[in-house]
Amino acid sequence: MFRRYLSTTAPKFQNGASLKKILQKDEAFQVTTYARPANLCITRGKNAKLYDDVNGHEYIDFTAGIAVTALGHSNPEVSRILGEQSKRLIHSSNLYYTAESLELSAKIIEKTKQFGGQHDASKVFLCNSGTEANEAALKFAKKHGIMINPKKQGLVAFQNSFHGRTMGALSVTWNAKYRTPFGDLIPNVSFLNLNDELTKLQSFIKDKKNDIAGLIVEPVQGEGGIFPVPAETLIGLKKICADNDVIVIYDEIQCGLGRTGKLWAHAHLPKEAHPDIFTAAKALGNGFPIAATIVNEKVNNALRVGDHGTTYGGNPLGCAVSKYVMDTLADETFLAQVNKKAEFFYKRLVKIQQKFPKQIKQVRGKGLMIGAEFAEPPTEVIKKCRELGLLVITAGKSTARFVPALTIEDEVIEEGLDIFEKAVAAVYA
Ligand SMILES: Cc1ncc(COP(=O)(O)O)c(C=O)c1O
Repeated sequence: MFRRYLSTTAPKFQNGASLKKILQKDEAFQVTTYARPANLCITRGKNAKLYDDVNGHEYIDFTAGIAVTALGHSNPEVSRILGEQSKRLIHSSNLYYTAESLELSAKIIEKTKQFGGQHDASKVFLCNSGTEANEAALKFAKKHGIMINPKKQGLVAFQNSFHGRTMGALSVTWNAKYRTPFGDLIPNVSFLNLNDELTKLQSFIKDKKNDIAGLIVEPVQGEGGIFPVPAETLIGLKKICADNDVIVIYDEIQCGLGRTGKLWAHAHLPKEAHPDIFTAAKALGNGFPIAATIVNEKVNNALRVGDHGTTYGGNPLGCAVSKYVMDTLADETFLAQVNKKAEFFYKRLVKIQQKFPKQIKQVRGKGLMIGAEFAEPPTEVIKKCRELGLLVITAGKSTARFVPALTIEDEVIEEGLDIFEKAVAAVYA
């Protein structure tokens, strides 16, 4: 049974039936790249809940638009800022300065340093999506390498990585299913295994130092299955890279911005493991598309005017929202709340796992980025959750992923996990 909302809460879509017809007709005009459930069309959201007014359903949302709406759906302050800013200036390109993009860049650097992130953070490149932020990072690392030696262009990435779908970011994304249909990508990419001995990983980088420009890693791997990378691995990788002029890129697109209980996931690490470049997107605009590539002086010194660009990057609407997001997340009280919610979530999920030890092999994660690894792909569990009014996504082959709004209410966590437990019980009865 779907959870239903009172019809009075949805005045805008009382004529649901006709909207349904329009949707069915228009669906034919979208390319075949997504498999979406039938009978689900999101029309509005509020914090950690989503509403489908076409079909009359309410959902608890443990996906937050894939770790994007960290401050909740339809955050009233975000709406207010977008409205106000849109009356002043929506776009002017990167031909000219805007106060919003200058202020946001300064804020990202300032808050990063203040909250234990990249200690030598220096400059910001603003763009529009995660894949673009990584694209910039890879270009910057290659430029740095090429300036040392024209052959120093290669990239190191890791098994289970996900960095995006454009050709550069795709080249360093592990899942062959995403890469192979597109033929030739960036050459000279090596995928290493993070579970290998650190000395083995280090030897690989040292031996090929004249051919490697950069290394890219998610401090907590997201799409690949929610795998937090051990601190000692990142410390050791950074050391060997620093010794061999290899630029270290941390992809914080999913795990950054408060998700792990610190402003950045790499803020859990000692200074010597901080990256040369890190990338942020998703939560940066709480749903408004904006992303950032943050670099130190060493990287910036390799860049020249004209090396990279984007028409929309740093547009005033996105920057105005992001300033608010940064101010809200970079706050010890807010982050303490995230950690409290995460502990609550984790403990309850472990209890569920203990009731189904054969079906759920492990619960792992960091902060509110949590995975429950099943013995088999949890497709039926996810489907059952949806039927019962809970949205959950997968990660890797067999992990159910929980990345709710960081502002999710405790009772909504509880209610959502009740549904999850019911779904697991129903599937494995
Ligand atoms: C770690 C990571 N990097 C990059 C991306 C790509 O971001 P976008 O979809 O905004 O291009 C994602 C998206 O899921 C991600 O999780």
